[in-house]
Amino acid sequence: MQKITIAIDGYSSCGKSTLAKALAHKLHYSYVDTGAMYRSVTLYGLQNKLIDKDHHVNEKELIAALDKIELSFHFDDHTKTNETFLNGVNVDREIRTMEVNENVSKVSSIKEVREKMISIQRHLGKKKGVVMDGRDIGTNVFPKAEIKLFMTADNTVRAQRRLDELSSKGQYFTLEEVKQNLLQRDHDDSTRKENPLTRAEDAVVLDNTDLSKEDQLEFVLKLIADFHFISKQEQSQH
Ligand code: DC
Repeated sequence: MQKITIAIDGYSSCGKSTLAKALAHKLHYSYVDTGAMYRSVTLYGLQNKLIDKDHHVNEKELIAALDKIELSFHFDDHTKTNETFLNGVNVDREIRTMEVNENVSKVSSIKEVREKMISIQRHLGKKKGVVMDGRDIGTNVFPKAEIKLFMTADNTVRAQRRLDELSSKGQYFTLEEVKQNLLQRDHDDSTRKENPLTRAEDAVVLDNTDLSKEDQLEFVLKLIADFHFISKQEQSQH
């Protein structure tokens, strides 16, 4: 079957990566978590004191350091996930802390940072057979993606999911603190100048507030089957 590109965009913590991973597994596609890339650059900034406690980013130095930031992704057979490596070090845990959450929107709004990440993303997806999640995949990275989804879910449900994820890693916050961070990031991600988060006109909206993981997977597999059916029909007409 023809390999396609699946772009999944949407707000923070609405289950994009869970669905993307399940799809990639089912279809034997690769999965690219673009948020992990912006998170890794943010971690680099924090480790190298280019971001201070008041979330001020030394943009000039961070841009100058971009050439020193090498990102790679390796599938871990044990955890069954794609782990993120920053300059050869596995940072999969460190990039998901509240400190990174609080600074990543700022870092991802820097034009030069986006240019570098987008060029890596296009390279990773150039052979198709990829599920990529983020904020601007269907609008900007792969505007011709065959399947585009825009995911959303109720704010409290999203905050609870992120709270559970943080507590499972020993990081404890209140639901309200996590919710405020999510809403702030959604606002910053949607209103920034460079490639803001918006729904692509041809993206299908998936609100998963009341949907199980299985329901969501089934929903997208049906979209994919419809796509293949229609393109087969179109081919036979030519
Ligand atoms: O999906 P995530 O929560 O891991 O993403 C972290 C941040 O990275 C998010 O707040 C905005 C930014 N991001 C982006 O600007 N563009 C993308 N394609 C992916 C993420």
